[in-house]
Amino acid sequence: SGTPMQAKLVLLGDMGAGKSSLVLRFVKGQFFDFQESTIGAAFFSQTVAVNDITVKFEIWDTAGQERYHSLAPMYYRGAVAAIIVYDITNSDSFTRAKKWVQELQAQGSSKLVMALAGNKSDLASKRKVEAEEAQKYAEANGLFFMETSAKSAQNVNELFYEIARKLPRA
Ligand code: GTP
Ligand code: MG
Repeated sequence: SGTPMQAKLVLLGDMGAGKSSLVLRFVKGQFFDFQESTIGAAFFSQTVAVNDITVKFEIWDTAGQERYHSLAPMYYRGAVAAIIVYDITNSDSFTRAKKWVQELQAQGSSKLVMALAGNKSDLASKRKVEAEEAQKYAEANGLFFMETSAKSAQNVNELFYEIARKLPRA
């Protein structure tokens, strides 16, 4: 009810981890087996209602390719929430996720709501990163953790709703 609260949200993580796929699942209910790698960044918005509050997410889906790393501060500056995405079948992507957390802790706002998303949970047979390890890392670093699948839609809405619930009220 009332005027929506605008919330800038940024997705960060290794190329191929599934950032764009998570956003497309959340915003449009779509999934593509051959999602194109993002160039620069892409913008989306989506509104969710939690309890008595309407949150309008202004979502920056960044490009994971290393050559775009220097652009990232433009997208996380002023953000109230960040989703750091890795691929549970790729240990390097988990290492990369931890580097993003460090960068945000060093340069982001201290009030930033941070979520760690272990994506591609539908590929459990190819798992390389244990959920317990990611959960422990998240707890130790003040993030909340969920395993997600943009393909099956598991935990995708839940991820964004949980962020909306955790946002400081204006
Ligand atoms: P960049 O834009 O290059 O940074 O990559 P990205 O993080 O946006 O990854 P993207 O969403 O483009 O997904 C990469 C590939 O993984 C695509 O082929 C997707 O179809 C696939 N993919 C994404 N999410 C999932 C998932 O949950 N499960 C499975 N099986 N595949 C997924
Ligand atoms: Mg992308």
